[in-house]
Formats: sequence, structure tokens, C-alpha cells
Amino acid sequence: MPGLTLRYPIRTLDHQLLFPQGTLLTEETLDAVIHSHTTYSHRTSSLFLYGSVKQDCLDFLSTPPFVTIFSDPKEISDLLTLLEAVRFPIPILETLDYFKANDFYTYAHVLMVFALSTLLAKDLLPDYRERIRLSATGPTHDTGKVSVPQHILKKTTPLTKRERRFLEHHTAAGYALLGYYYKDTQHLACKVALDHHERKDRSGYPRGTLLEDPMVEIIAACDVYDALIMPRPYRSGAYDNRTALEEVTEMAKQNKIGWDVVKALIAHNRKSNPHYKEITISAEKRGTPPSYNVYGMMVEETDPNDRTG
Ligand SMILES: [Fe+2]
Ligand SMILES: [Fe+2]
Repeated sequence: MPGLTLRYPIRTLDHQLLFPQGTLLTEETLDAVIHSHTTYSHRTSSLFLYGSVKQDCLDFLSTPPFVTIFSDPKEISDLLTLLEAVRFPIPILETLDYFKANDFYTYAHVLMVFALSTLLAKDLLPDYRERIRLSATGPTHDTGKVSVPQHILKKTTPLTKRERRFLEHHTAAGYALLGYYYKDTQHLACKVALDHHERKDRSGYPRGTLLEDPMVEIIAACDVYDALIMPRPYRSGAYDNRTALEEVTEMAKQNKIGWDVVKALIAHNRKSNPHYKEITISAEKRGTPPSYNVYGMMVEETDPNDRTG
């Protein structure tokens, strides 16, 4: 990948500095870091046998709108069998503990993006079983948020430019941390972490590159949808499901994500659960977004409380 000059440092959860601020992050520099830390163990564990992950996942799936999306018992049983086969390096599982203790929204978010993206991958990717088993990218797509101060993740008012840049740093940080934990700069989880905020019209970040890998696109769509239907600190409440689906549809209209992934998401939200290729999408927008929402807004001047440096 083309290099990214890091505006902020990248540290592991146990405070090892992998990349100081100002260094160039490339495959080569990440490879050098991976090989310079030879003491690091590569032990893995099953995601669903780790702590309360499986029970938490089932609890989240039993709430609306997931209870409609995951309503077919056979579908759920197949999905759980597949998800139970997923293993992760131990430090990645420890990042879930970190999120559960410090940023519960992100904890629930990564698990639901995992479940949703697996469901959509089943529709859209012929080899989805192998892909998910070897490289489940839902639970890891926001791993880099361990490098972002919590006061930025939880801020209820518009971000300053520096805070916005720090938030966007989670993509490069996720790429580096996952490459380090997997000892593999080419791992799909690294690509997803780096590119899940990229868009098909190149309007995303961190590089403004073309969103084209189908797995990254699935994660990108599930990421936006889940963020809309959950309460977030920067707006007055969650989007209702209909409005959230309209927002994701709008992204396809603007060529930010593809139509197939949007249709698959909408198809699973319909009680009759039609095949995604058979559905038609209403052009009419009837939803009402939350009244207070500062997502994407930035304040120009430096905030006196901005501690991001
Ligand atoms: Fe993200
Ligand atoms: Fe996310």
C-alpha cells in the first residue's frame, strides 16, 4: 500500500509503542516492526468461547431490528456453527475486553457488524464460509479505536479538526495492530480495518481510495447501518430502522457503496426474507432522522479542552 504518515502514535493495549507519531506506515515498515518483536506469541482462542462473547452476541441479536433480521432458526443455527469456528490471536480478544469495559457501544457494534456481515457474505460471496472462518473481519474492523482517546470517541458536541483526524487514525492504527497481531501485513482483517471508511466514489478516508473488495464493502455497509440504528453520543437518539435503511440506500444512489449489498441488507429486514435480487426499493423517503446530530460537523477553532496534541 502507499505509505501513510502517522499524525498520532500507534500503541498496543499493553502500551508497546509500535509506531511513533510522524513515521511512515507501509507494508515494509510494518513488516520490520513485526520481525523486530520476536518474543510475541501467536496463541489463538475461539471467539465464542472467550468470556461472555457468545452470550452477549445472542443477547444483542434478540433485540430489534436484529430479531427480525435473524428470525429464521435454521439461519441462526448455521450462522452460530460458523461463528463458533472463528479463532483470533489472544491480544485481539483482549481488545474486546477493553471495549466492553471502556466503550460498550463499540463492543456491541463490532459484534453486530460481525453477525450482520456474515449474513450478507452468505448472500454475496460464494466462498463465505472459508472467508469468515479464516478471516472474520467484523470483530476487528474498529480494533484501531484502542489508539483513539476515549473522550473523542464519546464526545457529544462537534469534533475539532484535530479530534476528527485522531478519530480517523483508527483505520491506520487498526491496519498496523492487526498486521502485528496476525504477523501478516496481507491479512484481510488489515485491509478491512484500513479501508472500511473508503467509498466507491473515493470520498472516504484515510486514503480516498476506491472501495472495491467485496468483503470490505460488506463491512462498510454494515458499519454504517449499525452505527445508525444504535444510540450514539453525538446525536439525540438512534435512527429508526426505516430511516437507517433509507440512509444506506442514499449511499448507493450516490455511488458510495454498491446496490447489491444494500439490497441484501433490506431483504433481510423484510419479514418475508426475499432473495436480494428479487426486491425493489421504494424511491420515496419517509423516515425522520434524529433531531440533534452533529456527526460529520467540525468546529474550526481549536477547542481549549482539546487534549489531542
Ligand atoms: Fe471504523
Ligand atoms: Fe465501525
